[in-house]
Amino acid sequence: MDAPTANGEPGDSAPRREALVRLRGVSKRYGQGAAAVQALEGIDLDIARGEMVALVGPSGSGKSTLMHVLGLLDRPSAGTYHLAGTDVTRLSRRAAARWRGTRVTFVFQGIHLLPSLTALRNVELPMVYARVPRTKRRERAGAALARVGLTALAGRLPSTTSGGQAQRIAIARAVAAGPELLLADEPTGALDRRSGRAVLRLFQELHRDLGLTVVVVTHDPYVAQHAGRIVQLEDGRIVADAPVQNPLVAAAEADDTTPPVAGTAASPRGGAA
Ligand SMILES: Nc1ncnc2c1ncn2[C@@H]1O[C@H](COP(=O)(O)OP(=O)(O)OP(=O)(O)O)[C@@H](O)[C@H]1O
Ligand SMILES: [Mg+2]
Repeated sequence: MDAPTANGEPGDSAPRREALVRLRGVSKRYGQGAAAVQALEGIDLDIARGEMVALVGPSGSGKSTLMHVLGLLDRPSAGTYHLAGTDVTRLSRRAAARWRGTRVTFVFQGIHLLPSLTALRNVELPMVYARVPRTKRRERAGAALARVGLTALAGRLPSTTSGGQAQRIAIARAVAAGPELLLADEPTGALDRRSGRAVLRLFQELHRDLGLTVVVVTHDPYVAQHAGRIVQLEDGRIVADAPVQNPLVAAAEADDTTPPVAGTAASPRGGAA
């Protein structure tokens, strides 16, 4: 669905899709007085539905801060953030918590699976918080594990999986509820090359097959070239924003131990509220 931008900005040459993310003048300051750090400064950013964006920039440039704002983990000090047309800076804490984990989800570098829960339970957890009924939760969690090729590990504890598998479980958890926006901060940073490529491939599949909007932070130019667009931050400001001419496609690895299960390509989005 094409929606002309409400602010009447001229579209660029490509036909603009509806903006899922719209930031205007977003700033974020940590601390006060002499110790204050201006982590973001006047960020204007539109991300259309179905885009895959790489966010790059030197250490300390504000990438994680921007991701926290996008992921409703933190509020900007100034500026507006419209997500799917809603000014989410005005959501109550409870409403923001409901959006988080269902409509907007996060894959962290540190993974953060709960060690006492099986893979399946970990994948279900955000839907527990979002009060998705149990049967539906189970069904979606199972479909998400199938999508990342880890049905066989559903009953395992995270401590008994490899780092790459744990990252894929975390991705299953992030997408199980059918989110609109998937945010990933250095998702391949701690992985070896092969596991990293499997994760990249998953992101590309989710983006392509489900039309998921993906923002991925990376230090790795090779990883960034898999996105359709690269946004570069420096000192809390956007200093470059350009499409990738021919995005790389992460190929399947012949020796990937647990390839995605055949026939799961059309796992339902679920349409969580
Ligand atoms: N909770 C916080 N309190 C105070 N300052 C913070 C906080 N989080 C981040 N900062 C500061 O804000 C700036 C941006 O940090 P941010 O974590 O967003 O950078 P980054 O681009 O993600 O860096 P890296 O590539 O190292 O992860 C840095 O100067 C950092 O020290
Ligand atoms: Mg960071």
